[in-house]
Amino acid sequence: MWFWLLASRCAADIALARNWRQEHCVGETRLKDTIVTVATDATNQLPIVAVLNSTSSNAAKAGDISFVVITRHVRRLQHVVHRFLPQIAVTVCGGFSELLMQRPALSKLMSLRNSTRVKRKELLSPFNFAAFYLPYVLHDSPRARVLYLDTDTVVKGDVGDLDDLDMRGAPAAAVEDCTQKIFKYINFEMLRKYDQRAPEKQAWKRWGLADTLSNETCVFNRGVVLFDCARWRELRLTETIEDLVDAFVESRARLWRGGISQPPFLLTLAGRYLKLDLEWNVRGLGRMDLGRREWLQLAEYARHRYGSEPNVFERHMAPSGPFRQTFNPFLCPIAAFAKILHFNGEFKPWTLSSAAIDSWRFLGLNVSHAREIVGTCEIRACPTSVNVSTGRRLRSACESWHHFTTSETTTLPRWDQQHYSPDMLPWTTKPESVTDYYASGCIARPPLCTCSSVLSDDCVTICASHWHQFVNPTVMLDAAARGDPAWLASSLRVLHGRRHAPRRLLLKNSI
Ligand SMILES: *[C@@H]1O[C@H](CO)[C@@H](O)[C@H](O)[C@H]1NC(C)=O
Ligand SMILES: *[C@@H]1O[C@H](CO)[C@@H](O)[C@H](O)[C@H]1NC(C)=O
Ligand SMILES: *[C@@H]1O[C@H](CO)[C@@H](O)[C@H](O)[C@H]1NC(C)=O
Ligand SMILES: *[C@@H]1O[C@H](CO)[C@@H](O)[C@H](O)[C@H]1NC(C)=O
Ligand SMILES: *[C@@H]1O[C@H](CO)[C@@H](O)[C@H](O)[C@H]1NC(C)=O
Repeated sequence: MWFWLLASRCAADIALARNWRQEHCVGETRLKDTIVTVATDATNQLPIVAVLNSTSSNAAKAGDISFVVITRHVRRLQHVVHRFLPQIAVTVCGGFSELLMQRPALSKLMSLRNSTRVKRKELLSPFNFAAFYLPYVLHDSPRARVLYLDTDTVVKGDVGDLDDLDMRGAPAAAVEDCTQKIFKYINFEMLRKYDQRAPEKQAWKRWGLADTLSNETCVFNRGVVLFDCARWRELRLTETIEDLVDAFVESRARLWRGGISQPPFLLTLAGRYLKLDLEWNVRGLGRMDLGRREWLQLAEYARHRYGSEPNVFERHMAPSGPFRQTFNPFLCPIAAFAKILHFNGEFKPWTLSSAAIDSWRFLGLNVSHAREIVGTCEIRACPTSVNVSTGRRLRSACESWHHFTTSETTTLPRWDQQHYSPDMLPWTTKPESVTDYYASGCIARPPLCTCSSVLSDDCVTICASHWHQFVNPTVMLDAAARGDPAWLASSLRVLHGRRHAPRRLLLKNSI
């Protein structure tokens, strides 16, 4: 009896939230079966323009898609959409945080505000849980599917394909990520204990959570998730997540680590989601560095995929400053085949103007100690690349590019990161962390990813350009004028302040 009460109350609460849309959304009211959604409380609207515009531009039947943006800044976003994307029917919704705060589990999370175990307090914000409630608030038909996208994505494929996808009864679909195992996140022994107490937990008791996992269970990336709304609600997965959050609060933040909302999502869907092809979430883009082990895996992958062309890949990788085990940048060899590019690294394409993207060989990054890009700067030297197998120095892509694309006879000096700082002075104190290294001066900006089926130098910046293709300079200037991103203004300033205009790039067949 008690279970029934509890269950029906929960179900009623969540169902009630459906009316929320009538009160809190503006724009198109009736939703199609395919719904593309972003949910963000960030003030910067640029990334949302890229997601909406790229999804719509690449869809064969854009008219069959509903776009929903859930934000705290409804009026500002409405302005952007009306002014710049009038051809796209966008529904803009606010008030989601308030709705989520009514969920007991999420409001309880706030009791961890003072916990020393939670380092990044902003992760306690209910907004991070928004995706799990979408199947309750965004559906007008039993066929509804919600494609949730992080705002650091840009779509290259036709999301209509996902509508035709046979989900085989799965409540959600996502791309598996086997560079990480779920064990990294979960205190497994503790989970077992909670599992044994599960009969009190209505939504969770139907499966022993701990039993469905093994040491080999991979994670999935939550930046691109397709929800089958009806199936998700039927399995009551939101309640499972809430039960887990309850247990997390009770464990005083010991049940999992590495985020607040990600681990319960991973746990709830482990073994129950449909695996999308890798192309639907080509992630890791914009990461500034990677460790030796991952480097070797990628190099091996590139060799396998590109046969005799791995050298380009190798020539782009340079040791991060004086660190022998850490390399930058992160390159993604499968970006050419991407249907969705995911810039989930620190370096976002909107941190630079499109012109700055094109002239990456002149402009480096000025990075703060918090790893925020505070602007661009002129690079004075190219870092040396290294053959990871032999340790021998290689002519780096930075050098080749500079040499090839300028008429200047002098080439940039080679920079030996082991012994010299970015200012080309001997290190007075060597940086102790990669973060210190980035903050130590003007670092040659990493190209964001690779693009073609044959890895070649001419396309290493294409992915960032791809983002810019969907956000025209007027939108960037509008954002800069509104004082949105301070770094954008500084990036434009550096570029315009250059003494010599960069020569037009010869992108095709250049090397
Ligand atoms: C957190 O600490 C502040 C000040 O130290 C206190 O006022 C507040 O009540 C505490 N909150 C919780 C949830 O313990
Ligand atoms: C899983 O890994 C943990 C920690 O490495 C180990 O203690 C445990 O025995 C492993 N379990 C299995 C089933 O291999
Ligand atoms: C790195 O060294 C290996 C082993 O000598 C060699 O096969 C490979 O071609 C080298 N890579 C580059 C980019 O020179
Ligand atoms: C980076 O930006 C800071 C703050 O604007 C400035 O003081 C510093 O000189 C810049 N560094 C470089 C290398 O441009
Ligand atoms: C949307 O994308 C198209 C196609 O790339 C582009 O021409 C257009 O300028 C973009 N619109 C905005 C507002 O950025």
